[in-house]
Amino acid sequence: MATVAQATVAGPSIRPLGSALGAEVTGVDLSRRVDDDTFARIHRAFLEHHFLVFRDQALTVEQQIAFSERFGPLEAFPEKDKQKDAATVYNVANVTADGKKLGSKDIQVIFLKVNARWHTDSSYRSVPSLASLLYCIEPLPDEAVGGETEYANMFAAHDALPEDLRRQLEPLHMVHYYEYGRRLYPELPPMTHHERVHVPPVCHPVIRVHPDRGGKRSLFFTENAGGEIGGMPLAQGQALHRQLVEHVTDPRFSYKHRWRKGDLGVWDNRCLLHRLREYDEDRYRRVLRRTTVAGAGPVVGPFSRQ
Ligand code: SIN
Repeated sequence: MATVAQATVAGPSIRPLGSALGAEVTGVDLSRRVDDDTFARIHRAFLEHHFLVFRDQALTVEQQIAFSERFGPLEAFPEKDKQKDAATVYNVANVTADGKKLGSKDIQVIFLKVNARWHTDSSYRSVPSLASLLYCIEPLPDEAVGGETEYANMFAAHDALPEDLRRQLEPLHMVHYYEYGRRLYPELPPMTHHERVHVPPVCHPVIRVHPDRGGKRSLFFTENAGGEIGGMPLAQGQALHRQLVEHVTDPRFSYKHRWRKGDLGVWDNRCLLHRLREYDEDRYRRVLRRTTVAGAGPVVGPFSRQ
């Protein structure tokens, strides 16, 4: 576990960002170890607002890892080309780990385009991730169109479903597969043997209960790791998936975050979907790095046997 010096913290100030989700946190320096009381406040705000952005941070990789580990153990990315400085750090950038700009046809950039579809991180794992922390190193300039990360609140999307559709979804599952990105972008290299062994297709309930929110229900499906809801004929499952994509895209559930240099965003993958808004990858550099907190157990739905 990485260690950093203990901080004297004045106490963070937390301001909601929009009606759907999100809060801005200022007055805390995450390059130092935050004391346990401050972390408890941050954690409560994380559960309440689902996405927090800490402004004006200056974080080394080690400091980002140390703060991320307060939420739990981190996932590692076995693929060398996704890493930046450590196996637990994902280079979310159209720039190589040593700073070289890549074009829109580069494999690394195409992999990131898969994230332009609604998803939660690592839904293709048997235990999807709990939280993600994304640190902005080089934001897009103000004049650039797109490049935000858009988040959608799946508690709210669930609660707004018509009653009959909610009942229909309760026992259903979706198969999430890492290989799906290759179907969207056939120019990507085939999955390696290691990937086939470590991330085979997995099945998760479409409605999940949140372990830290008293079992509150939310919608859980993705658009980047599959294109149908299972348990019915293919065309019907695809149509239901499209209907859910349309439903969660309603702006009343969402908040779009435009990154500033020094932002550290932290979000709860157990109740939010997110997607990258497309931008001109050939023209602009966009450099962020992500640490990802591993889930504590399988996704639990209303009918899961535990
Ligand atoms: C991600 O999906 O973790 C990254 C999203 C982004 O690049 O905005």
